Amino acid sequence: MSNGGVFSDIADRYDRLNWILSLGQDQKWRTTVVSRLPEGRLLDLGAGTGAANEIFGDRDVVALDPAPEMLSLNNAPSRVVAVGETLPFESGTFDAVFSAYVFRNLDSVTQTMGEVARVLKPGGMAGIVDLARPQGRVTSKFHRLGTAVVLPLAGMAIGARAEYAYLHHTLDKHPPPEELLADTPLDLVETWRLGPMGFVWAALLRKAE
Ligand SMILES: C[S@@+](CC[C@H](N)C(=O)[O-])C[C@H]1O[C@@H](n2cnc3c(N)ncnc32)[C@H](O)[C@@H]1O
Repeated sequence: MSNGGVFSDIADRYDRLNWILSLGQDQKWRTTVVSRLPEGRLLDLGAGTGAANEIFGDRDVVALDPAPEMLSLNNAPSRVVAVGETLPFESGTFDAVFSAYVFRNLDSVTQTMGEVARVLKPGGMAGIVDLARPQGRVTSKFHRLGTAVVLPLAGMAIGARAEYAYLHHTLDKHPPPEELLADTPLDLVETWRLGPMGFVWAALLRKAE
């Protein structure tokens, strides 16, 4: 199942389930990152249905996503169907890049971060938030057991069992953010953990002036 395919299939039910699974905290976690980003032109990478649009304020937002079914529900004035690995924009044209709950779905984090660095203006910032396993071996094992049961059940409730079983597996796809983002062309300014057991991570990166 391709990543775009997963989200095309569940676009109409995505927001509701995301809210339930995060116990209503998903927007709060996006906000902690967006509040640290500069004003100006912002790329929402993997924007989906536009859940973050209401927290972008007066920024000039470009929403990008490979799934047209997700983007068709997004009310951002500028919407682009594309992947993070090949951004169809001129170099140095964004003040900020934001990405929420997308990195587990990328084919290549390295390629995407290279593209993010290219499209940012000097001094521009990237803010990322995503889910992973909590730190610590015991909590991580406990969490793995929990998501093995909870995610397929939640998926079944909206008729998307396979898609949410897929989400369970993506949680193990990447190393912690400090390792995942260590070799990007951007400077890693800060990473922090959020949510129960710290299973949500956030990162802030800056392009050198
Ligand atoms: C879990 S949703 C998150 C959507 C939105 N950012 C939010 O906060 O609700 C993940 C999104 O990433 C998109 N996606 C998958 N692969 C991608 C890629 N290679 N580049 C950019 N976006 C991708 C999916 O189509 C989907 O809309």
